[in-house]
Amino acid sequence: MSKTGIIYATMTKHSQKIAEAVGKALQVKAQNVKENPVLDQTDLLFIVGGIYGGESMPEMLEFVKGLSAEKVKSAALITSSVSNKKGQDSLRSILEEKGIKVIDEYRCFGNFIVVKLGHPNKSEVSGAVDFAKKLEAEARRI
Ligand SMILES: Cc1cc2nc3c(=O)[nH]c(=O)nc-3n(C[C@H](O)[C@H](O)[C@H](O)COP(=O)(O)O)c2cc1C
Repeated sequence: MSKTGIIYATMTKHSQKIAEAVGKALQVKAQNVKENPVLDQTDLLFIVGGIYGGESMPEMLEFVKGLSAEKVKSAALITSSVSNKKGQDSLRSILEEKGIKVIDEYRCFGNFIVVKLGHPNKSEVSGAVDFAKKLEAEARRI
C-alpha cells in the first residue's frame, strides 16, 4: 500500500486552500510546514507552496533540507505564483540532490495584491486535485 503525504507552506492561504482540497480528495491530512508536521515513511509527498521573491518559503526549504531518500521516495510539487513561469526550482534541486525523485510540478496562478485577482480559481484548484489523483494512482501501481 503506497503512502502519501501533503505538506504546504503559505503566506496568503492559497497553498492551504489547494493542499486541503488535495487532502480531501486523497483522504490525507494536509500539514502546514509551520505547525511541526509529522511525516512517516512516505512514497509520494506533495509539496504545495507559492513563490516569494523568486523562491519557495524559507520554512519549506528548511523542511526539505531535513528529508532523506530513505524516508521519502518521491515528491510532486504544486506551485502557485503571479508569474507562473518559475517553479519551485531550488526546492526541486534540494530534493534531487538527496535522491528524492521529483515526479512532476503543477503550476497555477495565485494573486498578489491586485495582480491575478481571483486566482487560484476553482478550475486551478480542481486541476491540482486531478494532478494529485493521477500521480497517486500511478504510485499505487508501482
Ligand atoms: C511577499 C510575496 C512575494 C511574492 N513574490 C512573488 C514572486 O517573486 N514571483 C511570483 O510569481 N509571485 C510572487 N508572489 C505571489 C505568490 O507566489 C502567490 O500569491 C502565491 O499564490 C502565494 O501562495 P500562498 O497564498 O500560499 O502564500 C509573492 C507573494 C507575496 C505575498
